[in-house]
This record gives sequence, C-alpha cells and structure tokens, in this order.
Amino acid sequence: MIASLSYKDQSPAVKARFDKLKQRPPLLEISSLFKIFDSKAGEIVALKDINLTVHRREFMCVLGQSGCGKSTLIRILAGLETPSSGQVLVDGQPVTGPGRDRGMVFQSYTLFPWLTVKANVMYGPRMAGKDDFTNESEARQWLALVGLDKFENSYPHQLSGGMKQRAAIARALANEPRILLMDEPFGALDPQTRQQMQAYLLQIWKNVDITVFFITHDLDEAVFLSDRILVLDPRPGRVREIVEVPVPRPRSHDQLREPEFLATKAHLETIIHPEDTHAAPVFDKLPIGRMTDVGDDVE
Ligand SMILES: Nc1ncnc2c1ncn2[C@@H]1O[C@H](COP(=O)(O)OP(=O)(O)O)[C@@H](O)[C@H]1O
Ligand SMILES: [Mg+2]
Repeated sequence: MIASLSYKDQSPAVKARFDKLKQRPPLLEISSLFKIFDSKAGEIVALKDINLTVHRREFMCVLGQSGCGKSTLIRILAGLETPSSGQVLVDGQPVTGPGRDRGMVFQSYTLFPWLTVKANVMYGPRMAGKDDFTNESEARQWLALVGLDKFENSYPHQLSGGMKQRAAIARALANEPRILLMDEPFGALDPQTRQQMQAYLLQIWKNVDITVFFITHDLDEAVFLSDRILVLDPRPGRVREIVEVPVPRPRSHDQLREPEFLATKAHLETIIHPEDTHAAPVFDKLPIGRMTDVGDDVE
C-alpha cells in the first residue's frame, strides 16, 4: 500500500533541515517590492508588496500562472527593470542595474551565434579585463563542468537545444556570479532532455558556490529542483505561499512517484488554480472548407 502523506505532515528531520537552511546568511533580500506598469488600459500592478529572503546556496523555484509577474520579478533582480518602490539586495548590496554578481539564463537561446562556444564563455570575463590565458583555461573548466569540453570550438548552431543551454549556463557561471537567475530555461526542450538538464543543473549547483532562482511553470520541475518554492498569485502579482519541499537530496527522477513528492505536488495543485480560459469555441467561425459533418465517428 502506498502511504498517503499530506504536505502538512512534515517530519522533525524535514523541519530541522529548513530551520538550518534559514540560518544561512541571506543572499537575496526583497523588501516591499512593487512594480506598476502604465498601459493604455490603465495601471497594471505586476508585483504587489513582495517580501522574500533567499539564503546562500538555496535553490528556489518560482511558480505561478502566466501573467503573475514572474518575469517582471526576475528582470528586476537582474537589474533590467526598475521597481516602482521597494528594495532588492544581493549579498547586502542594493541592485541598481545589471551586474556580474547575477548571471542570467533565459528560455530563448542567447549565445552569440558568431562566436564559438569557448569564445562565448570567455566573453564576459574578457570584458571585465581577465587576461586571455587565465580566461581560456577557466573557460575549459566551465565547459568540462557542463559536459561540453569536446565542443569548445563548435558554433551555437551546431549544438542541440540542451547543449546550447548548457553552454549558456557555463557562460553565466564564468562571470562567477553569486546568484543564477533562470527564467524558464528548459521550457523549449523536449521532456527527456529537460529531465537530463534538471539533473545536470543539480550537479552543477552541488559543485559550485551558487544560489539559484529559477522560474518554471512545471510543477514536477519545481519540486525536483527546489529547496523552497515561491508561489505567486496573479493580478496583482503577490506572494501566495512559500512551500518547503520535503523530498530528500540527492534527488533522482525515480522520486517522482514517492509520497513526499506526490504530497508536495498535490499541495501545489490546490494553491495554483489553472488559468480561466475565456476562449469560446470558434469552430463555427473558421473559414475552412473541409470541416467534418456532425455525426462522424471520432472520439
Ligand atoms: N513592459 C511592460 N509594460 C506593460 N505591462 C507589462 C510589461 N511587462 C509585463 N507587463 C504586464 O505585467 C504582468 C506580469 O507579466 P510577466 O512578468 O511577464 O508575467 P509572467 O512572467 O508571470 O507570465 C502582465 O499582466 C503583463 O502584461
Ligand atoms: Mg514570463
């Protein structure tokens, strides 16, 4: 019989794990953060009073339906967008613009297509004045870490989607950021590659002194990766809950069917409501010649 477990039944060992995590120094501190956009239709409150602390070496995922402000939040953390009010500190320093202390990986492939994989990884440190000799040997180490050491002279178009994202991670890490900001980085990959990338990312995180802030809308991905999950509510985007993931580490995809995993996922499903779809059927409006007759036996 499979033991049924409620997300609320956290064992003392799990509670102790999270008490310990919260004793680590804060790496990211967000206080009273608001973001309001002006649009033709009026003001859009994209983020309302966000308060959050992410601890050093924590892996935090952000979940929430489309339009709840996930990308706005991560763009503010990256310094690509300014808050309407409130403050963001990374390692105690206020965020005022983009900086090398924060590495970004987006869903869309962002490598420079005219540079080799190695030259992409060397780009940031070179701009920061690192000498070519050190830079090249370090780039090779980053590429080895993401399993691309044999592809240093390839160009991005010669790589698969998963390999491009591994190169993008190596390029972000080469700047030695304190935090990796990832906005649905595996969203465009097929399910199998996506699982491989998740496992890779956990390996990298284990080996590198880095904190990860990772947006996804895949519940399995969030539970598999996270220490804690920030769940946002939409319109206005605000904190719904911060969910502590009790699944033990090291993690493997075999755990997807284990009670802690299922209980956490079930809890997330109760707090994230699927988006209302106001889309009415449009079949009668389609200007298509070969519609089937009602009564055709298709189920
Ligand atoms: N530059 C912008 N100008 C006006 N509205 C915006 C802008 N960027 C985002 N928004 C609005 O803010 C809300 C949150 O968007 P976003 O952060 O992209 O959500 P998510 O990433 O969770 O899907 C949405 O209603 C979106 O339309
Ligand atoms: Mg988004």
